[in-house]
Parts: sequence; C-alpha cells; structure tokens
Amino acid sequence: MTAPHACLPRHIAIIMDGNGRWAKKRFLPRHAGHRSGVDSVRRTVNRCGELGVEVLTLFAFSSENWQRPEQEVSLLMQLFMTALKRETKALHRNNVRLQVIGERSAFAPELQAILQESEQLTQHNQGLRLVIAANYGGHWDIAQSVQKLAEQVAQGQLKSSDIDCQQIASHLSLADLPNPDLFIRTGGEQRISNFLLWQLAYTELFFTDVLWPDFNETELDRAIAWFASRQRRFGRTGDQVEGNA
Ligand code: IPE
Ligand code: IPE
Ligand code: MG
Repeated sequence: MTAPHACLPRHIAIIMDGNGRWAKKRFLPRHAGHRSGVDSVRRTVNRCGELGVEVLTLFAFSSENWQRPEQEVSLLMQLFMTALKRETKALHRNNVRLQVIGERSAFAPELQAILQESEQLTQHNQGLRLVIAANYGGHWDIAQSVQKLAEQVAQGQLKSSDIDCQQIASHLSLADLPNPDLFIRTGGEQRISNFLLWQLAYTELFFTDVLWPDFNETELDRAIAWFASRQRRFGRTGDQVEGNA
C-alpha cells in the first residue's frame, strides 16, 4: 500500500479514547474494550510503519486515570504488561524503536523492568519511533522540565534570566523528536485531557466519533488525508504561506 497523500505527517499523536463505551454498547465489561483496543494499537503501529511516519505517540494512561476504580486500573496495568511482553519481539523485528514517556516510578517494579527491557532491546532500531505515554500528563511534563532547569540554576550552571521557551522545550519528554503534526482523538470528545500540552501548540487536531477499538487503517488514512488538506500557517498569512506576499 502507498501513502494516501503525498503530505505525510512526520509525527502523529493519538488519544485512544472510547474503549469503555465500545464495551458498554456490546454489554461487555470495560476491560473487553481495553483488550480490543490493543488490536487497534497493533493495526495503527503497522500502518504507520508501512506509510513511513517517523513518530507515533499513543496516550495509554494519563496521570488522572489513577482515579478510576482500582480494578480497572490494575487490569490496565496487567494489559500493558502482557501486551508489551507479547509484542516487543514483533516490534523489534519490524525495526520499531519503543520509548515510554511519563512518571514511571509509580508503576510496579515488574512493569518498570519490562519497559526498560523493551526500550533497551529496540533502542538502535531505525524504523518507526513508537512513544507510549503512560502515567503521563502535560502539566507533569512541563513541571519536570522546569524542575531540571531550577536545579541547574541552583548549581550555578544556568542564569534564571536565560530560561526561555527553548530551554523549557529542551527538557520535555519528547525533546529529541519533532512536535506532533497531526493529533487524533477517537471516541467523540473534543478535548486534550492533559496530553502533550506544550508540544501540541501548532498541531492539526482531528477528532473522530469512531471508538478506539473500531479504529483501523481506513480511519487513519482518512485522518492523514484530512491533514494533507490543511494549510499550516504558524502565525503567518495564507498568502505568505502560498508565496504570494
Ligand atoms: C481509553 O478509553 C482508555 C484509557 C483511558 C486507558 P476509555 O476507558 O476512556 O473509554 P471511555 O471513554 O470510557 O469510553
Ligand atoms: C484520555 O482519555 C487518556 C487516555 C486515552 C489514556 P480519558 O478518557 O481519560 O479522558 P477524559 O477523562 O474523558 O477527558
Ligand atoms: Mg475515555
């Protein structure tokens, strides 16, 4: 298969929402939706690899999701662990480099170890960079960057007057990667839910009612085609962008 459009986003970031409602519609427990969502992750990763997308960032668990019922949280952790154990080899075979962002010290030691193993195994791969945001929050990301800068100031390595946007950006979780070009949120809600707040400053936002377990290659291609039709102006005028001014 070829790219649906010549203008391919380098970085796609997705809020995978709607698992619970997908299950509810089928009179199934919520975890059935989360399980089925793993298949959508596989499809999306493969399609992005096929198209030549450079980075795919998936929001798997927010810093606010701890507030869910204990049983759902523990099932999500279990699912995260089994999916990683099962899929890491295939990811590695497909030249995918896996990276996890978020406050991982809150995870069980076994899960932390698996995350580290998966990252280490795939660290030299040159294909798709798959970023999983787990126990991630956009507020946390900015706060941890500022904390690092504050430490540098305290140690006399940096002047507080030198702290600027670039400095803050350079300590964020995705500092070494381009900002997302295309954001997709499934499940019908039109909000950011504390995902990549800083990095989404100029991202094109695509919202779809499709529930995450129903998300597939066709939907992804539709989002990419929509992206290709946008004019990105970054504060300039349309004429400037088109070269008429
Ligand atoms: C997204 O689906 C998965 C996570 C947040 C972990 P939800 O579980 O939020 O599904 P809905 O929004 O309740 O349908
Ligand atoms: C956002 O979905 C987080 C993830 C998909 C991991 P939520 O379902 O938690 O978002 P809200 O609570 O509806 O905003
Ligand atoms: Mg939700």
